[in-house]
Amino acid sequence: MIDRRAPLAKADPAIFQLIRREVERQEQGLELIASENVVTVAVLEAMGTALTNKYAEGLPRKRYYGGCEVVDEIEQLAIDRAKTLFKAEHANVQPHSGAQANMAAYLAVAKPGDTLLGLALPHGGHLTHGAPVNFSGTLFRATHYGVREDTGRIDYDQVRDVARRERPRILIGGGSAYARIIEFATLRSIAEEVGATFVVDMAHFAGLVAAGIHPSPVPHAHIVTTTTHKTLRGPRGGLILCQEAFAKDVDKQVFPGIQGGPLEHVIAAKAVALGEALNPEFKEYATQVVRNAQALAAALVERGYAIVSGGTDTHLMLVDLRSKQVTGKDAQELLDRAGITVNKNTIPGDPQKAFVTSGIRIGTPAVTTRGFTETEMLKVADFIDTVLTKRDDATIARVRADVRDLAERFPLYAAPPPPSPVRPAVAGHHAR
Ligand SMILES: Cc1ncc(COP(=O)(O)O)c(C=O)c1O
Repeated sequence: MIDRRAPLAKADPAIFQLIRREVERQEQGLELIASENVVTVAVLEAMGTALTNKYAEGLPRKRYYGGCEVVDEIEQLAIDRAKTLFKAEHANVQPHSGAQANMAAYLAVAKPGDTLLGLALPHGGHLTHGAPVNFSGTLFRATHYGVREDTGRIDYDQVRDVARRERPRILIGGGSAYARIIEFATLRSIAEEVGATFVVDMAHFAGLVAAGIHPSPVPHAHIVTTTTHKTLRGPRGGLILCQEAFAKDVDKQVFPGIQGGPLEHVIAAKAVALGEALNPEFKEYATQVVRNAQALAAALVERGYAIVSGGTDTHLMLVDLRSKQVTGKDAQELLDRAGITVNKNTIPGDPQKAFVTSGIRIGTPAVTTRGFTETEMLKVADFIDTVLTKRDDATIARVRADVRDLAERFPLYAAPPPPSPVRPAVAGHHAR
């Protein structure tokens, strides 16, 4: 018989143990994937609630189901906080993910077969910006702009040329592996010139915008989409902001256009995260995220690595590994074995296939959440360089122990463990 009140450990020990293992992995390793972060206990708690039981198709006070009076208040709070945080005229907090936010945004202003123009995937764009394997590339006619190989920065003259030639219905700004501030005003002027709607996908840098330390696309774009789980440090999910003129069409495309019932437990967690981002402390966090990325990029350059575009204005960097004679795939695997998680990534003009690549993408949102500052980033640079230079089992094992020591000094959720009787404390250790 199912015991409805049994805690997970008793009800499903297999899943319980696996969750525990994953939390341990997160606690003991260094998460440098640029699109990940570590949510607060408050966000976790809101997500794991009985709100998951509730169907609430529609919008607050305009639902297709009864019993929505409480979730109405929750969703309205999330909407209000999103509007305040980003100074937006309208917010829809229902997209289940960033991909769905983009799909709803595109369908709000374009029809299948219309032309999209976005940053090419190998140049730092995202799958949903017109990749042939994604809905955005099959449902729409996708065209692309890129970065200049010599500067690693978006070539705005090329954007204008392609836009004039292709006459896109939608011009998309934003990307997944672009480390520089995007010129929103320039892109908007290009969109105006060719009669396109300007959509910015700020999934990666939304937290920096929320903190006021990165220019906001909101005054420039007709529609802004984002995920809530990257620099914004909320639960996994999406969010759309737009000018009032687009509000009805955006809302209609989210539901009933592409989604069914909203995930009110996730929306509650989004509200909590948006509340956290409104707190002045969040500005300090975001400022440190960028400082840490810049410190890591500079330390890697000192150790002979090339950074695409020479550095970063944001939370991420793209490391060109060609000078080190290691592929992105091998680097990712070597670092993984040392407890350092990054992802292989193509670099502009990459001679390697997408599954191999010549680069890795590194981001600082998660390690900054755990309390890392520039001092720890220098250690991280040493760890990365040691692993990628030496590559032998003994070195990797040694770095893995050092990584674990460092990680345990900055616990995510667990209380700090007592000093280990076998491993020396990190304070007396020097990183290799
Ligand atoms: C720029 C950008 N847009 C959209 C997405 C998709 O978000 P999700 O994974 O929530 O669908 C991502 C995710 O990596 C992204 O980087």
